[in-house]
Amino acid sequence: MNQHQQIIQQIRRLADERDAVILAHNYQPDDIQEIADITGDSLGLSIEAAKTPRKVIVFCGVYFMAESAAILSPEKTVLLPRLDAGCPLADCITPEGLRRMKEQHPGAPVVTYVNSSAAVKAESDICCTSANAVRVVESLVEKEVILAPDRNLGRYIASQTDKVCHLWEGCCPVHDELPLSSLRRAIKENPDAVVLAHPECRPEILALAHHILSTSGMLAYVRKSPAKKFIIATERGLLYQLRRDNPGKEFIIPSSTLICRDMKRTTLEDLRCSLDTMSPVVTVPEEIRLRARRALDRMLAVPRGD
Ligand code: 13P
Ligand code: SF4
Repeated sequence: MNQHQQIIQQIRRLADERDAVILAHNYQPDDIQEIADITGDSLGLSIEAAKTPRKVIVFCGVYFMAESAAILSPEKTVLLPRLDAGCPLADCITPEGLRRMKEQHPGAPVVTYVNSSAAVKAESDICCTSANAVRVVESLVEKEVILAPDRNLGRYIASQTDKVCHLWEGCCPVHDELPLSSLRRAIKENPDAVVLAHPECRPEILALAHHILSTSGMLAYVRKSPAKKFIIATERGLLYQLRRDNPGKEFIIPSSTLICRDMKRTTLEDLRCSLDTMSPVVTVPEEIRLRARRALDRMLAVPRGD
């Protein structure tokens, strides 16, 4: 047995001993997605975290995702193999900043993307993910809403609803910095390809897309589509499942910049070590957790629509 096989075996044995479920986001490194019990987008993984019967959740993703699992399952131990896996989008907003924005728009409910800290969720009325954002906003009775913290997702939602939308000016650098010229070139070179883009991309990128979807939305779309070629405007980690599940189809990532360093931090050794030492544990102070939970529960109560 080689070293790689040994570590895989150790992870599986430790996961059984600890009664742990391994969750991995669709952007995680290939070997992490391969060993995970469940892969998914932010919405799918939140639902799995809320319903798993296991005692331990190992979240292969970034900090805000592990925090969401800890908010939803306080009785469980939530492990994040790399504590330094953060998210610049989540870091671009503070609870104080959001409170100031609320003062400027009294009465407008705050819809916060799950890519945010627990403390920011605690200041929010309802959360959303890229998979349910429009449905979440449409579920509200108010005519005016605050959308935080991703301005690109915010503009996309605003384009799909009649509500007055006040946007926080944050972004995911990975998606926001996708050069328009790169996407144009990919389309020119592959005029027969279906273009799928993540709503964290800038509006001029989304304008060139045939479909705007979350990561799991892209996976589902490609599986069903009779098309043979796809340009994928999102983080390149999605290629692992796209290629595995669709052997006859071709996928083009329009730019080499579409890589999230935080998502790529997790290694098999980090995962093994985390299960072995049962650390690092992610927790959320109870007062924040209860308020953040309200916003997440409200989101999870919105029908999925798929
Ligand atoms: P989804 O997988 O929910 O589309 O999220 C994308 C993302 O940027 C997660 O960090
Ligand atoms: Fe954050 Fe963007 Fe990385 Fe997702 S892809 S974790 S939003 S920086």
